[in-house]
Amino acid sequence: MRLSPALAFRGRFTLPGDKSLSHRMALFGAMADGETRIGNYSTAADCESTLRCLEGLGVEVRRENRSVAILGRGPIGLRAAPGPLDAGNSGSTLRMLAGVLAGRRFRSVLTGDASLCRRPVERVAQPLRAMGAQVETTEGKPPMSIHGGELKGLTWDLTVPSAQVKTAILLAGLQAEGTTTVREPLPSRDHTERLLPLFGVSVEVSGDALSVRGQDALRPVALDVPGDASSAAFLVVAALVLPDSEVRIEHVLLNPRRTAFLAVLTAMGANIRTGVDVTSPEPVGWIEARSSRLEGVGVAPEIVPGLIDEVPALAVAAAHARGSFTISGASELRVKESDRIAALAEGLGRMGVAIDERPDGFTIHGGRRLNGAAVAAQGDHRIAMALAVAALAAEGDTEIEDAECASVSFPEFYDLLARGREQGRRGHG
Ligand code: S3P
Repeated sequence: MRLSPALAFRGRFTLPGDKSLSHRMALFGAMADGETRIGNYSTAADCESTLRCLEGLGVEVRRENRSVAILGRGPIGLRAAPGPLDAGNSGSTLRMLAGVLAGRRFRSVLTGDASLCRRPVERVAQPLRAMGAQVETTEGKPPMSIHGGELKGLTWDLTVPSAQVKTAILLAGLQAEGTTTVREPLPSRDHTERLLPLFGVSVEVSGDALSVRGQDALRPVALDVPGDASSAAFLVVAALVLPDSEVRIEHVLLNPRRTAFLAVLTAMGANIRTGVDVTSPEPVGWIEARSSRLEGVGVAPEIVPGLIDEVPALAVAAAHARGSFTISGASELRVKESDRIAALAEGLGRMGVAIDERPDGFTIHGGRRLNGAAVAAQGDHRIAMALAVAALAAEGDTEIEDAECASVSFPEFYDLLARGREQGRRGHG
């Protein structure tokens, strides 16, 4: 894909449903007895992978325009799939579904694409084994086989803050005897603990510990999913780094464990305003962002889990900021859909950004003009979108190899980018 520079970026946007929420709504719906209705279900290829896996397990799924109905029959209604369950590019699908399958008395094989088969899954296999499931991985990676069984609750200390692993353990815990408790070293996204109570599950929260008790089928729910917070990050950064630009994003998820990127951008001097319209079960509201003079900051390791998916977008803002921007304590970036530290260093480096790579982060010495270049998304949706936003604010054209992988989380991305650029052109001067 070839992208030329934009004069400005403007517009009002509403986005397809949040990916993290959509995965969870579908999985919890499959564990419920009855019809769960999910409005504004994510259009991401990843969330379709979740639906396909559920269909593989015998769950009836109805797709109607933007909404999805899951006809759950409780965990006991799940049936052994005829073949391997393919999670595609989606770590969330594979890891969270592992927790559901740990409680089922049949064998399942979970696999995915080449990128997913390079990602660590022992972090989920270990606690599920400790609960009593037979779990095998392929040298710590997918394909992963699970023969579920009679699970016993336990207390598990996560070594990495991971909402996917936390969720897997809690979903296994719902099918286990006794109480299951998960403790995390740093707070990760809390959608599971916010949503499960709607499905009739009581989740006890005490400090950094979350507990559930074994129970029968969940209760079905009807819920509209607010717009994807991580997708919003790319549009926000486009408006910040281009001149004469302004975006407003409506009906977007504003969960504080997902919006740390807005706090970092604000600390960098970004002109951003937000407003919350609804607070429960998830905060939902609007974001406005305008062209800004940015300055580099240091991102502390403690806040990294709250912005881990937004680092590619933040790196583009950092490239446009005066001074240095440093992030550390982010080694998880190395095991995402790509090694995101290496992919950013390579892609932005080719565009003329001075970036020092470290095992757990990077420093960007910003403020230089970016130049268009031939760059590669490396099969990673968020690298593709970060490079595309960088391209809009560069001098000369940029060619992005594998740009279409953006559809893994945000199939509408390039259309919205074109719309914002066109509205920017019309509003310019
Ligand atoms: C997610 C959790 C995070 C995040 C991923 C989505 C989730 O992964 O990077 O994109 O929906 O729970 P980890 O759980 O591996 O930190």
